[in-house]
Amino acid sequence: MSSPVEQIKSRLSAADLIQSYVKLQKSGANFKAVCPFHSEKTPSFYVSPARDIWHCFGCGRGGDIFGFVMEIEGVEFPEALKILAQRAGVELKREDPKFRNERLKLLEILEAASEFYIQELKNNPSALLYLKKRGLLPKTVSSFKIGFASVPSTGRWQNLYNFLKSRNYADWEIEKTGLIVKDEKNNRYYDRFRNRIMFPLFDSSGRIMGFSGRIFGKEDETTGGKYINTPQTILYDKSRILYGFDKAKNEIRKKDFCILVEGQMDVLMSHQAGYENTAAISGTALTLPQLGLLKRLTNNIIVAFDKDSAGVEAAKKGIDIALNQGFDIKVLTVSSGKDPADLIKENPDQWKKSLDQSVHLIEFYLNTLADSHSDPIILKRRASEKVLPYISLIQNEMEKAHWVSETAKKLKIKEEPVWEELKKAKSPLAQEKSMPCLPAGRPFSPTIKTRRRLLEERIIGLSFWKKTAEFLSGETENLLSEENQSLWQRFKKDLKAGFLTEEEKKMCERLAFEAELYYDQMDLDKEIKLIASELKKEKIKKELENLALRIQELESKGENKEEIEKHLKEFQTISKEL
Ligand code: CTP
Ligand code: MN
Repeated sequence: MSSPVEQIKSRLSAADLIQSYVKLQKSGANFKAVCPFHSEKTPSFYVSPARDIWHCFGCGRGGDIFGFVMEIEGVEFPEALKILAQRAGVELKREDPKFRNERLKLLEILEAASEFYIQELKNNPSALLYLKKRGLLPKTVSSFKIGFASVPSTGRWQNLYNFLKSRNYADWEIEKTGLIVKDEKNNRYYDRFRNRIMFPLFDSSGRIMGFSGRIFGKEDETTGGKYINTPQTILYDKSRILYGFDKAKNEIRKKDFCILVEGQMDVLMSHQAGYENTAAISGTALTLPQLGLLKRLTNNIIVAFDKDSAGVEAAKKGIDIALNQGFDIKVLTVSSGKDPADLIKENPDQWKKSLDQSVHLIEFYLNTLADSHSDPIILKRRASEKVLPYISLIQNEMEKAHWVSETAKKLKIKEEPVWEELKKAKSPLAQEKSMPCLPAGRPFSPTIKTRRRLLEERIIGLSFWKKTAEFLSGETENLLSEENQSLWQRFKKDLKAGFLTEEEKKMCERLAFEAELYYDQMDLDKEIKLIASELKKEKIKKELENLALRIQELESKGENKEEIEKHLKEFQTISKEL
């Protein structure tokens, strides 16, 4: 029986897996994409279906499907294994609970709680009726795993707590999920969510990280606000979660845009109306990590704004950050007092119309200004205050020029004064200086390679790709540095990876992939001669360096004139070879 890792690899191809996170384009026999792990404009991220590996020539990251999930989900190997096993339908042997890592345990508790809430909803006709009245179909309720937290008749808020205890979870574990709260005075725990419609909050791969509970029935001071959310926990970090994103990923990639709305209900209704490419910022401002999730799939965002407050909203909701990060942002306006959920419930066709009528953020600002100020002087002043700051956020110069020209047209003036004012425009980004480039990802430090090492790797990659030892033979073979000499000798034995270590094998796969991408369609004989001659030069340079050092050393001692002479002659002879 093969190991779970092997089983997973045999069932999941790198291309399919990565495709579900990143927009891949066909490139010969391979795929390429804009790297999800570092900021770049032209794609240098490649996936090889044949080798089942990925590699970014920009940032140097690369590996197999496990490495990809670890990077993109920001998890360690055990979790990546779990995510992929689930995806591939491979069953992992149950480990001893004592050794299961804490995060996995908390995930399990949240999963159990979700099942409990779902069951409670099924037993509560009035909550079910409420969801129906809000326009939700049963299939939406079940796919988003909506549930209900009831209030127990005993008045001791321990419904969920008792259920989880019956499953043998410890108090401290349950507490870490944020599902229960400790009553210090009476030294007991009670449920955080009571009498609420429960929305699980999923991470980008669909695992429950926390909950958002909407008040059901009357609000009063004992129950808290309209929505209560899981507090920050080991798992739940609200700045990293976009509600609905896990179910929106594929459609965002396919449709090449994401609709951003405010709340859970908006997401549910929009998905139901056929726009599965919808996610919510859930009442807070967009963050860089959230934008990082989106950037992997698309550059285009449509935000649904309430028309009246749109100007202030953009900054408040982090739209300015998105603009600055190079997203193309359009604004969809919903007539005041309504939110997308209401609108869709009333008339789903109107949602499509509103989407079609969405306009670029800057255009939207220009329009709202023109609508509200008829005095031309005030209009110009407002434009400087409210529109130019946003234009100044745009990084692309041509795009910037486009909006300067549009602004000039709108104000019926020449472009020059707009450019002048733009120079003065203050960026609306509050923490601009500390604004890093997307996406942040985990810290990664590529090793800096010498030119010699790079050339050697080229030759090794080419040889591995073509499964031949011909590219280095006789004299040229000696050009390899010591560290690669041993690998080369073992490669020569079978022209495959049979005598290499796992590490070496991985490295050679990557080098072969690199060679394949780089040298495809090229005249290999010519290229190899070139590399060999370059390698020779590098070797000579190294010898010269060593000689120069030796000479310096002798000179500083002030003796051995003959010896110095001899070295100098040697130096000159070797130099000629260069
Ligand atoms: N929200 C929150 N805490 C609050 C209020 C709101 O976290 N006290 C978040 C929720 O994610 C909510 C979103 O902000 O979905 C939008 O808030 P709001 O417009 O007030 O709620 P709706 O989504 O419109 O909810 P409903 O239609 O059920 O009233
Ligand atoms: Mn609403």
